[in-house]
Amino acid sequence: MLNPERIVYVNGHFLPESQATISIFDRGLLFADSVYEVNAVLQGKLLETAAHGQRLERSLRELGMAMPMTHTALLELQREIVQRNQLDQGMVYTQITRGVTPQRDFAVPQGLAPSVILFSMAKELINNPVATRGLKVLLVPDIRWQRRDIKTTALLAQSLAKQQALDAGMDEAWMVEKGFITEGTSNNAFIVKENKLITRQLSNEILHGITRASLLQIAHELNLVVEERPFTPEEAYQAQEAFISSAATFALPVIAIDGHNIGTGKPGMITQRLRAIYIEKALETAL
Ligand code: PDD
Repeated sequence: MLNPERIVYVNGHFLPESQATISIFDRGLLFADSVYEVNAVLQGKLLETAAHGQRLERSLRELGMAMPMTHTALLELQREIVQRNQLDQGMVYTQITRGVTPQRDFAVPQGLAPSVILFSMAKELINNPVATRGLKVLLVPDIRWQRRDIKTTALLAQSLAKQQALDAGMDEAWMVEKGFITEGTSNNAFIVKENKLITRQLSNEILHGITRASLLQIAHELNLVVEERPFTPEEAYQAQEAFISSAATFALPVIAIDGHNIGTGKPGMITQRLRAIYIEKALETAL
């Protein structure tokens, strides 16, 4: 059969995607009252499972929700999604909403049964053509709410920013607030200056990227100087290298920002090295 349907998981059931449904009164739909995680899959194995599990639990806790199952049980579901879809490379999405409300009500109901949704997307992550070509970035205002450290599905500002970049003939948007870059639409932002790695420090203003943390660890092991601080558009335009990081991209080079070439206008050496080491190390602990 050509393009067989994906098997997804919804509230206790593995189903073909066309048969998977969710209530119109789910608070995830009505209020984006839901959180999610994205795990990369390489060689049929999930990367960085412990860190993603911990961040999921934290996101839920910040919204007054508990993990709907143990970390082990969740990992089993994620692995089953990989297996049932024979996923070799791509991503597994885990989404948890507060659940279905009896009435549409802004007050947050207590004690709802959360909706749990898992699905996969096949994608070539290692031989991603962008890794050799590089990304062109557009800077846009950051119009998001102030709890960007919580990984919620309230992603409209990011979605519109990404589309704005595509409409301008670019590949990605980095968001700017009070004169400093916060992060990309679905990734953390890095620049390299005088061989130093610069990325914004953790706070409620950005998502605490799992890939970011691992790349910083690798940078320390390589004896690269790391500065966790805000950086301006001007600094970015003049950077020696720039890149993004996320579970879906690993480290991916940025070759231009607002039409300014970064370095030579080609993917940078440090970025490529970090990317290669990240993939190698992440595979060692993949499950
Ligand atoms: N996005 N910043 C934002 C706003 C993100 O949405 C993401 C991840 C990251 C990187 O986090 P991590 O390294 O843990 O993936 C930073 C995922 C991939 C997504 O929404 O598809």
